[in-house]
Order: sequence, then structure tokens, then C-alpha cells
Amino acid sequence: MQKYHVKTVRVNGIPNRVIADPEEKLAKIIRNQLKLTGTKIGCDCGQCGVCNVIVDGKVVRSCIVPWKSVAEDAEILTIEGIGTPTKLHALQWAFIVHGGLQCGFCTPGFIMASKALLDENPSPTREDVRDWLQKHWTACRCTGYKQIVDSVMDAAAVLRGEKEMEDLAKMLKPGDSVWGSRYPRPNAVYKVTGTWDFGDDAATKLPEEVLFAVPVCPETHHAKVKKIDIAAAEKMPGVAKIVTAGDILANKGTNRIRGQVGSPTATTDGWERRMIVEEGDKIRQWGECVAIVCAATEKQAREAAAAVKVELEELPVLLHVKDAMKPDAPKVYDEIEEIDGIRNCFNKRPLIKGNDPKAAIDKAAHILEEEFYSSRQPHLTLETDCGFGYYDEEGRLTVQTKSICVYRHLLMISRGLGLAPSKLRVIQNNMGASFGYKVAPTNEHLIAACVLATGRPVYMRLNMKEHIVRTPKRSPFLMKIRIGANENGKIVGAEHTWYVDHGPYSESSQDLTNKGGQFFLAPYHVDDLRGCGYTFFTNHRWCGAFRAYGAPQTYWGCETAIDMLAEKCGMDPLDFREKNLIRPGDTFPSGQKSEVYPLQAMITRIRPYYNIAKKRAAALSTAEVKRGVGIAIGIYNSNDDGPDDATSNIELTRDGVILYNTWEDHGQGADIGCVGTAHEALKPIGIRPEQIKLVLSDTAKAPNSGAAAASRCQVMVGMAIVESCRKLLDAMRRDDGTYRTYDEMIAEGIPTFYEGYWKATLRNNEGEVQHCTDMDGATGQGYPFANHMFGIFLAEVAVETKTGKTTVEKFTLCGDVGKINNFLVVDGQQMGGIAQGIGLAIKEDFVDVKTHNNLLACGLPYIKDIPDDIQLIHMETPREFGPFGAAGTGEMPLSAPHAAVGNAIYNAVGARVKDLPITPEKILAAMKK
Ligand code: FES
Ligand code: FES
Repeated sequence: MQKYHVKTVRVNGIPNRVIADPEEKLAKIIRNQLKLTGTKIGCDCGQCGVCNVIVDGKVVRSCIVPWKSVAEDAEILTIEGIGTPTKLHALQWAFIVHGGLQCGFCTPGFIMASKALLDENPSPTREDVRDWLQKHWTACRCTGYKQIVDSVMDAAAVLRGEKEMEDLAKMLKPGDSVWGSRYPRPNAVYKVTGTWDFGDDAATKLPEEVLFAVPVCPETHHAKVKKIDIAAAEKMPGVAKIVTAGDILANKGTNRIRGQVGSPTATTDGWERRMIVEEGDKIRQWGECVAIVCAATEKQAREAAAAVKVELEELPVLLHVKDAMKPDAPKVYDEIEEIDGIRNCFNKRPLIKGNDPKAAIDKAAHILEEEFYSSRQPHLTLETDCGFGYYDEEGRLTVQTKSICVYRHLLMISRGLGLAPSKLRVIQNNMGASFGYKVAPTNEHLIAACVLATGRPVYMRLNMKEHIVRTPKRSPFLMKIRIGANENGKIVGAEHTWYVDHGPYSESSQDLTNKGGQFFLAPYHVDDLRGCGYTFFTNHRWCGAFRAYGAPQTYWGCETAIDMLAEKCGMDPLDFREKNLIRPGDTFPSGQKSEVYPLQAMITRIRPYYNIAKKRAAALSTAEVKRGVGIAIGIYNSNDDGPDDATSNIELTRDGVILYNTWEDHGQGADIGCVGTAHEALKPIGIRPEQIKLVLSDTAKAPNSGAAAASRCQVMVGMAIVESCRKLLDAMRRDDGTYRTYDEMIAEGIPTFYEGYWKATLRNNEGEVQHCTDMDGATGQGYPFANHMFGIFLAEVAVETKTGKTTVEKFTLCGDVGKINNFLVVDGQQMGGIAQGIGLAIKEDFVDVKTHNNLLACGLPYIKDIPDDIQLIHMETPREFGPFGAAGTGEMPLSAPHAAVGNAIYNAVGARVKDLPITPEKILAAMKK
């Protein structure tokens, strides 16, 4: 007999009698029973603070507070009790105007923790704020934390009566531009008030017939599935259906997913990914699904999933690319041919630029020859993978997930499910970040299979452990680099071989492997280059997109190598870089000229900061704590590799305009991206930002704008928006230059709907305008990118000589992302990228599924891991083929910050660590050497 505890508690000031399981956690009671979904659940084990509420004046992580320990008459304050969209609390206002949020999943938790702090200490210092948020394990993966501290400090000033809250509605005066401003993103007001429904919140509003789906994933890296026995599980309470591969095959689906391998040089056709593993087939990575239990409740589904019996024959496991390439290694796929006789290698991407540099390097005054390894960085979004499906009003099987490429996902899964694309619909839910992992279908096919098999709405949500071990990761690169420099410190040639561990799926591996050639020494003038990238199957976690996709790997090798070569040449690392910079007329490794050459100006701009940093490090170093300064340069693209296009439509209405496109929002700010661009383009008709309505990321309502990846949306979708606005303005313009109203357009029978289209465009090396091209498969030469982003990263670190513990004390980024649409967004993206770069450098990893299965163990950076002193310097060189001169933003800041940290550690203590992450143990070992 289940006994319940009944208590009266005051929730946001209102008495509630609540009857609940004494062991149930307060977070679940608040969300499921009190229906207050502003309180989120992320880690569900006290590591992230997204569930923070205030109980009797104290901030608590409600996911670890059992109902039995909540006192009778307790006062519980949730985000809903603090303020509303029309009556904001000072903290909510401050988080909006300082850009203290991006995806917003953590925001209610931060606001609750900060409220408790300000109630206790109305005049905190910045360090007090940081100490408090650290003490309460309140984490953010997006922002980089500095803007959060800015927000709390400003809210405190308002609450003390020293400052007024500016009226958000009046921030923009008539005639002002949204473009180039700090105008807040439209959804911020909902995020700070807990009223922005993420997937798990929207799921609480689904029809009551909804089933909860739990995948059955045997705990093995590699095994043959001999038998799947669902008989006992099927009979368990609440179970509606256990879905297997047989259900998909019965619908005439192929049960496969096709990624974007699409390469003439690959030996796989890209169809090797199974939706659900069948009896007799193999599991090739941890977390592969063999069945899905659909039951009335999550508890029932989980219990039944545990009762599914799977008989396995364990097979040898390959968890490192070095093992995968051994001649006697087992094969991950017997049927897929090897490249060049190299075991498990399925693709090869050569790079041939200029003359063979071998002889020049052999004869060079200084030669650097080294091997580097980059880690399998985990994405660590605080919202776990979730989504639901149902049949819509037109009978289309509809899935709503965290997809950041709704059209691509639709096409990747339709054939596998046995559905015509027109019978599928994909919609993006509001999401608590992705950082690229959702370029991959992770649950779309599974949810759709469950809806197909049951005919009922289905919800699926992974817990944090499942989320971490079952979603894709950053692909590790093993890099062998050889660079020669002459007696004057000029690079004379370079060679690079990179081995890409891609787990058991080829999906998305082609572009990734290309990056090892495209960005190797990209910031430098090198006429003669030879390289080759090899891509491998292993049994480790399959690798997908992760912010800056291929660049952090490549720059980890080349920017560390450049520092080492500078030392061999007896030169300062910044001087060496400046001497070798790519300059007007020089070409990238792809042979393509850059659209702009801002690096010299950026070096000039950052040099004073560098000089001061060096002096500071020298002055503050002691025998116990040594300080060091490191530099790295990163360049990244702003469109998909090769030909790329996007569509965005516009409709004039009586109230303003509606934009239709699929600029998916990870939290990076698609809404303000669209509004800022359209507002600028529509300036002649004086439209206000709130008159621009958005219909985004629904394949039934919006045209295909491509993926929210490759930092492409501001450029590609932005140009399509501009194009659609241009057509609309042309239609509205009268002969005298004035503009018709909506009513006049209707009266005159002039269409009010216009399509905008853009194809990635550049000037070729001869100065002619053309579209991007695929790279030549034999040489890696071509015109893959229309726009690039540039960054110079300056890290200042302190290293404890006894323990090897490293603290990044200050970080400066001089970036050029073209003209800036919105400074709050760009600053947020750059700060957040730096924070992820620091994590990548010294903390984050995903090696062992049995330990790296929670946020803490994976090395999620908390506020005290990230310096409060982060400085951004914006250079805004206009881009000819970007909207109003813009390039992209999101990925440059994570291209090379970790290499700057590594170089700073070497500068501090002389420890050169060549494999990520740079842990204290590795530092101590390198110091001993
Ligand atoms: Fe409660 Fe993470 S601390 S969900
Ligand atoms: Fe903090 Fe996304 S804004 S986790």
C-alpha cells in the first residue's frame, strides 16, 4: 500500500494542500502536481541548479529535496512567484538587458539563487555573487557567466533604489535601428519568467492519451544481439506496446538513417545507421536501442524496459582510433571496404596545395614534428534530449524535438520509417541548447516509430545519464604535424595527417574530416602544403556536430605547433604569428582567397593587451603559483561546406509582417537574428520590431532555410530575409517613392507574400562573383566558404606548481565577425564559446561511459572555473556577401581558445601537454620531463 504525505504549503504566497509520495522530489511535485513548469529539471541529481526554488528563505535544488523533508506550512517560492512578463522583478529585467541568458533553460534557477542571495546580502561584490552561485552548484552552459554576474549586480542596484529599471518597451525610440544595437531578444521576457515552454514543459500539456516511451539499450559497446525477449515486459502494468525493428520493417521502412556522408571518396553509402537494432544484427556502440517500451507513465515504461531480456554475444571492442587502425583489429563493419588497406578506415580527404613541401621542410633551419590528440568533448546541455510525436490535423506524423535542421531530419528518417516525406512533419521545440549535437537525429526516428506503432501521442525524455552516454560527441583527432621554418622565422611548408575517430556511423563525417585540411595553418601564409585526413569507424560514441566542428581539433594541433615552432625559431609567439600571417592576396589551404584580411589589424589591436598581460604574469608569479600568457588564432566558416542555400518568406499583414523560415534556435538568438535583419531591411516603411512576427522551424509552415549549423544562419537566412524584404518593398513602393499600406495593396490586388532566396556567394581568386563549390576530392582545393570569422585569443593563467591546478584568470578575444546585428547576442556567443574553450582545455572529456555519465564527471565548467574578467574586442570588417556586412558568430569563439590556454600553461610552467584535456596530472608529468 502506497502511503502519501499530506501537507499544506504556501506556494508563491498561496496556500496549497499537497498530497504526495514522501520520497518524491520537490521539483517533480512543483512541475507535475502544482503545474508550475518554470522550475526545470536537468541533471536531476543536484549538479546544475536549474531546479532552484526558495524554501523558507533558503535556495534549494528541489530535485534532491524529498517531499518528506519539506515542512508543514513551508513557504515555497518559484520563478512564477517573483514576477510576470508584464510585471518583471528587477532580477528578471536585469537578465534581459544584460543578456544574462541564451537558451534560458538555466535562467529561472539563476534568478531564484540570486534572489536568495540579494535577500540575504543586498550589496554583494561580484566575487560574493560568484561564490554564492558556485556554492549552490548553479550552472550555465551557454553564457560564460560574466553577464549573469552583471545582471545580479545591476538588479541589486535597482533593489537598493540606486537605479531605475528601464522600460523595455521604450528602449527603442522611433527611427532607431535594431541592427547594431543591444535590443533584447523577443523571447527573453518569457525565459526570465519561466513561461517559455521547453520540450518537457510542453509535454505536460499533451492530450491525456499520451504514452511515455523508454528505449531499451543494453549496456555494451559491441555485441551480437542473439535474442530480444519482450514477452514478460509486454504484460507489465501500463504497457501499451513494445516497439521493435519489426514494427518499422512491417511499415516497409528500411530501418536505416542516412547521414550526410555523400562523398565519392568514402567506401560507405552512409546507410549503416540502424534505427532499432534487430535480432541477429550487432550493437556497435553503447546506448544502441533494440526496443522501445511505450507505457502510460514513465515509471511503468522504465520498469518494463528493465524487464526486456536481451541475449548478447559480446564482441571485441575498439575505443581508440589507434586500436581501430591496427592491421589485426576487428572490423566494425565486415561489409564496408577499407581505404588504402587501413583497418576500419572508410574515408580519405587529401589536401594538395602548391609544391610538395617535403624537401623544403627537410632543409629548413627549424623543423617542428609532433603528434597531438584532441578529446571527445561532450556537449553537456542542461536540458536533456526530449521530444514527442502525434498525428496532426492532416494526418501527418508530426515530431516535435530539439531538431536544429527540421527539413534535413525529415528526409533522413522518412525512408527508414517507410513514410513518404509528405506524410512527415518536423517542428522544433523551444530548446535548452544543442551546440550542434542536434544536427543528428537522436530521437526523431524513435518517437516516430512509436507513433506509427501505437497510433497515439508519444513522449520520450532521456535522463541526464542517458542523455550524456547516448548522444553524439565531438570527434577526436589524432594529428601528425610537420612544419618547417627558415632562419628568419618564415614558414616554408607543412605536412599534416589527421585520423578522425567517428564512432560507428559515418553521418556528418565528410565535412568534419575536410576541416582538418581547411583550417590547418589557415591563419598563415603557406604556399606549399600536403595533408590527408582519414576517417575511422570505432565502437566509441558516434561523433556528430559540435560547435566549431573540426576546428578545435585542428587548431589544437596547429596552434600548439606554431607556438612550439616559434620557440625553436627563438621568436615571441605573437611576433612569429604576425610574421607569418595570411595577408591580402594570400590563399587558405583550400587555395581560395579570403573575402577579408583583418588579422594584421587585429594583431595590432590586441598587442597592447598581450604586452600588459606578459608584464602582469611576470609581476604576479611566485614559486608556488606561476602565471603565463598564451595566444592562439582561429578562423571558421559562415556557411555549409560547398554549395549552400536558404529560403525565407515574408507576408505583409495589417499589423506588420510575418517571416517564415527555419532559422532554428539553439538558444543562440534566431528570433533577434530574424527581427534585427528584417527591421533593418524594412526601414523604409518604418516598421517597429514588435510588428515583425515569426513563424519558424515547422516543415508544414515554413520553407527550408537549411540547418542552424556552420554559423550560417545570419549570413544565409539573413540574406534570404533581405531578399524577401526587398521584393516586398518593391511591390509596396509607389512611383513617387512612398509606400502603399496593406489595405492599399489588397485594394490594388498586389500580392503580399514574397519569397527570399540566397545561395552562398563569393568572389573567386580572379575577383569574379560566383557560388561556393565542393572541394576537389583529390586535392582539397576549391571555394568551400563564402564568409569567414576571425579570432585572436589571449589567455592568462595561474598554475600551482605543486598540484598542477590551473586557473584561467583573464581572457581576451579580439574577433571579427563582420558587422554586428545584435551585441547582446554576439557578446553572449563569444563569452559562452570562451567558457566552453576553457572547459575543453582543462576539464571536459568523455572517455569511459561508466564514469563520464554526469555533468560533474564530464567536467562541466561552473562559474569559478571561468574568469569574471573576460574582454571582447570587436572588429567589424564589412562582408560583401553578408546581410548589411555581417558574417556568422557562434563557432569562431570555440575555434582556438583552448590552444591559447595550453600555450599559456606552457608559458607559465614549461609543461607542454599535447593531448586534451590538460589535467593537473599531465601538467605535473610534463613539468617533471
Ligand atoms: Fe536539480 Fe540539476 S540540480 S536538476
Ligand atoms: Fe544557461 Fe543555456 S542559457 S544553459
